[in-house]
Amino acid sequence: MPPAVRRPLLLTVFGALALAAAAPALADNAGFTPVTPESPGAEAINASFLWVAVFTGAIFLVVQGSLLWFVFRYRRGRRARTDDGAQVHGNTNLELAWTVAPVLILVAIGAFVFYKLPEIVDAPAAAAEEQELEVTVKGYRFYWQYEYPNGVIALDRMRAPVDRNVRLRITAPDWDVIHSWWIPAVGGKFDAIPGHVNTSWFRVRNPGILRGQCGEFCGVQHAAMLAELEVMPQDDFDEWYESEAQAQEAGRGDLGQETYAAACAKCHGMEGAGDIGPPLAGNALVNDPAALEEVVRNGRGAMPPVGRDWSERQMDALTSYLREELGDGG
Ligand code: CUA
Repeated sequence: MPPAVRRPLLLTVFGALALAAAAPALADNAGFTPVTPESPGAEAINASFLWVAVFTGAIFLVVQGSLLWFVFRYRRGRRARTDDGAQVHGNTNLELAWTVAPVLILVAIGAFVFYKLPEIVDAPAAAAEEQELEVTVKGYRFYWQYEYPNGVIALDRMRAPVDRNVRLRITAPDWDVIHSWWIPAVGGKFDAIPGHVNTSWFRVRNPGILRGQCGEFCGVQHAAMLAELEVMPQDDFDEWYESEAQAQEAGRGDLGQETYAAACAKCHGMEGAGDIGPPLAGNALVNDPAALEEVVRNGRGAMPPVGRDWSERQMDALTSYLREELGDGG
């Protein structure tokens, strides 16, 4: 094939490949773009992402475009291998342009992000009649524990009312390690640091379940440290909130099972058959609440003190659950 035919053909093939790759990349985000935002903080993060992407996309095209242009336009062709190419010295306008343009781009990006930052960090004031909810989020190896103002405790799955400001106090017990609270659809990552409180917030418009993942490598079961946010209509939330408080106070309800699933099962298996940790089924500890509590509060060997600061109520819920499910109380 003569070169005059080969060139357009090559360009067409490369163009078609680029288009074919672009289609799946753009379809249903495919992991290339952030998840659909469900809360103002996540919306502001998304807007900042898109704003930065406009510049990085343009820079990519300019750099790769000129690369290709130079490769083709200034290729050796019929010149002898030993001949020098054209010698170019200085171009004041060009040099000014590539110095000033990046400065302007950085200013534009910085200004936009600082403009959006307050939305990401702070909840707007709620209407006077509106109840705000504040939840303490604590990261433990390897589960999330949520503490509500009325004393309700939940693990891994947080429940919250729809269309209300929910403020979060994110921390970790001081014997634990750093985790990172992250539900992408409601906002950015916030570190859960032992002995330090970070704050975040969300306000979700539609009921549903949003998923997240601990965003800081924290140990062997980091990958299992998932979080869920169940956003419920206000009435459903109020009903759950009240009945859960009563159930937990009376020692009924699912706190034991929830605690086991979140804090124990990730290492010992949901059936207690053992996994990373030794099996619990058939272990004498499950029939001995005092000995079990000793291990849960202080850890043993590779096991962290998963429940060092649990209330008596939560500890009782767990030890009764274990005795019923895996011990002689069943
Ligand atoms: Cu907790 Cu990673």
